[in-house]
Amino acid sequence: MNLEAWNEVAAEIAEIKKTNLRELFAEDPARAGRFTVEAAGWTLDYSKNLITPKLMKLLIAFAEAGELQKWIDAMFSGEKINETENRAVLHTALRNKPERPVLVDGKDVMPGVKEVLDRMAAFSDNVRTGKWLGHTGKRIKYIVNIGIGGSDLGPCMATMALKNFSRRSLAMHFVSNVDSTHLAETLRQVKADQTLFIIESKTFTTQETMTNAESARDWLVKQMGGDASAVAKHFVAVSTNAEKVREFGIDTENMFGFWDWVGGRYSLPSAVGLPVMLSISPRNFQKMLRGYYKMDRHFQTAPFNRNLPVIMGLLGILYNNGFDAQTYAVLPYDQYLARLPAYLQQLDMESNGKSVDRDGNPVNCQTGPVLWGEAGTNGQHAFYQLIHQGTKMVPADFIGFCKTHNPIGDHHDKLMANFFAQTEALAFGKTAAECRRESVPEKLVPHKTFKGNHPTNTLLADDLTPETFGALIALYEHKVFTQGILWNIFSFDQWGVQLGKVLATKVLDELTSEAAPSLAHDSSTNSLITHYRAVLGRK
Ligand code: F6P
Repeated sequence: MNLEAWNEVAAEIAEIKKTNLRELFAEDPARAGRFTVEAAGWTLDYSKNLITPKLMKLLIAFAEAGELQKWIDAMFSGEKINETENRAVLHTALRNKPERPVLVDGKDVMPGVKEVLDRMAAFSDNVRTGKWLGHTGKRIKYIVNIGIGGSDLGPCMATMALKNFSRRSLAMHFVSNVDSTHLAETLRQVKADQTLFIIESKTFTTQETMTNAESARDWLVKQMGGDASAVAKHFVAVSTNAEKVREFGIDTENMFGFWDWVGGRYSLPSAVGLPVMLSISPRNFQKMLRGYYKMDRHFQTAPFNRNLPVIMGLLGILYNNGFDAQTYAVLPYDQYLARLPAYLQQLDMESNGKSVDRDGNPVNCQTGPVLWGEAGTNGQHAFYQLIHQGTKMVPADFIGFCKTHNPIGDHHDKLMANFFAQTEALAFGKTAAECRRESVPEKLVPHKTFKGNHPTNTLLADDLTPETFGALIALYEHKVFTQGILWNIFSFDQWGVQLGKVLATKVLDELTSEAAPSLAHDSSTNSLITHYRAVLGRK
């Protein structure tokens, strides 16, 4: 990263470390308003961060020194900023307005985007209205999505998030793990003649997905009395690899394509969102895309000091690089968003888990943090203790909604009371003097004191709709982008995943070979493989 600009920030951080949130709030009655911004249905209150107006100005100068705007424009205009794969990065085109051209290698990609969306919509309508029938003439009642990583986490998380907009008669299942238990337990819940399998894989070569897809196909054919022609009405594909889809036995008429300029972890608004569209309807899917689009436009055009993704990106850098925070937590106070942390783990950690810069040199700074989280209030009864009183700094995003989809008694008020109370407690803690005023026995005062000063963002929307949901996901995408640019790393490749994949293929042969393999790993791996073979009675 740009160390010259960062040094200015670092000098101001040293000043901030001499104060705390109690003092900062006491000094400035207008602090909440000063550090609150809105966009695309979301309000971000970032006043409970360890910042001053001066520090924010320096952080923004740091973003300018890193030429962030130039890179934003480069991404939106289709430049090949994914240099190590020689690809454009255009997930934003997926939710662009059809009439706004986006060029890749001089060709407008928007007609193709529209064509796939139209085909997805027609297909979804057919399934939802019962025009598309299974092989024996029955309506589809179960959807089983088979994919992993970006071909699973996005559609699975979004289907759950927008469940209240779903057609509940269509049961949605997601199989990702190559562990046969995942597939077996799912198949126990569905009936073959009413099941549609969606095989999602950008490459259509991923071991886990292809293994699950082949086993699902075998199961279906067996259930259909050995009639392989049943596959046509029960399998569709989402992929960029038409040849492999055909090889698998799915007619490319029933394939929904996307493009190499859509990264797996950014692919939810592409055909990868097909299960979501089937569940919530094409109309609601379009609303989700509108939400994405609004946040995209905001990111592209808003000045940095009003720009939600830029501000959140800079705050993340502040703690990661200025306070040595190793992790950050995402805490959605909405059960529908329970899978959001898992989704964001791939988005953030696969994107910014890098240790060489854009020139191939070792980075000169810490890069992507460890992301984790859990739906509130469950986390409060599990790990919040460490955030409040542990020795580590864990910056956290609190995400909540003013309205609930499920008004029962005072549940929602209680949920939101916890939501607001936690960020207050984290920021301001409880002093020893306050404990004593409450007659806490002297011996217990150190244990009941909360030092506070734990930074949080509060993200609040009126309600969880396809629009606010789309905007939220785009917000995190662009936050991750902002950080990758300013750390001077490439956020759109994932070479680190390859080594494990290659080794697993080799080990698989050694686990399954008829003859005892001659093992040439380290002594630990050798003995583990030998033990496994022995338990299974292999030589
Ligand atoms: O985990 C590595 C990865 O390549 C991800 O980036 C991707 O989302 C996932 O595997 C699945 O890949 P595919 O969609 O090609 O099956």
